[in-house]
Amino acid sequence: MQTRTALVTGAAQGLGQEFAVALAGRGYRVAGLDLAPQTETAGKTPDYLGLVADVTDEEQVRAALGHVIDAFGTLHVVVNNAGVYPARPFEETTAEEWRRIMRVNLEAPFLVTRAALPHLKAAGWGRVVNIASAAVFTAPPDMVPYVASKTGLIGFTRALAAALGPYGITVNAIAPTMVRTATAERTVGADGGFEFVRAQQAVPHTQEPSDLVSTLLYVVDEGSGFLTGQTLNVSGGSAFL
Ligand SMILES: NC(=O)c1ccc[n+]([C@@H]2O[C@H](COP(=O)([O-])OP(=O)(O)OC[C@H]3O[C@@H](n4cnc5c(N)ncnc54)[C@H](O)[C@@H]3O)[C@@H](O)[C@H]2O)c1
Repeated sequence: MQTRTALVTGAAQGLGQEFAVALAGRGYRVAGLDLAPQTETAGKTPDYLGLVADVTDEEQVRAALGHVIDAFGTLHVVVNNAGVYPARPFEETTAEEWRRIMRVNLEAPFLVTRAALPHLKAAGWGRVVNIASAAVFTAPPDMVPYVASKTGLIGFTRALAAALGPYGITVNAIAPTMVRTATAERTVGADGGFEFVRAQQAVPHTQEPSDLVSTLLYVVDEGSGFLTGQTLNVSGGSAFL
């Protein structure tokens, strides 16, 4: 079989880095796209192609996809992982903040997927994986724009699955509960955030990035062609919806 290729957004750290390393470990050639240089990810990922670009910028996304194709010649898997999750009382949310969250979490997956689509179609096989959040089920009151953006991402996932099915491309979302990444530790997980979420879970541990790898590999698996338009709720039992 031809070596599969993957693009992971937000791959400089956190979940994106974990996904890039995991896919490389399964033999994929992996490119990452992030605002930040991806030195650490490159150090853990053989033949890694690290691209610095803003996923909300249409031109930068188009150019980055061009670099991926120049390097790999083909593309099979897109993991839309880059995201932001600020917590703030709704009354203090500015229109600018709302738009920023929507652009990174919802518009960017559209831009990246649309730019990748001709290459997935040319390959005749594809997997688009959108990283949503179990917050769409639990709806924390201080994350209104985040929940709106990730719920939108689930709608995007469903409709896009219907649109791309004829090309042999599946589209699914993964919805993690709170995960111990550096950003989460600094923000939503601080001041008892991890303990609060853990108390809602049936699984009595904090989720680590490695806890999501098996779900990602299942979704992109050769044998998962009938799994599409779904949101995989990996929330340790904190949300049963
Ligand atoms: N950590 C959690 O608790 C948790 C829980 C559920 C869902 N998620 C989702 O998982 C994803 C990853 O979360 P994380 O904790 O690993 O985040 P993180 O902050 O560790 O990593 C996100 C990466 O995305 C990059 N990024 C942000 N905006 C970008 C842009 N405009 N262009 C290019 N790159 C950009 C950042 O530079 C960063 O490297 C996000 O979509 C998040 O919403 C996280």
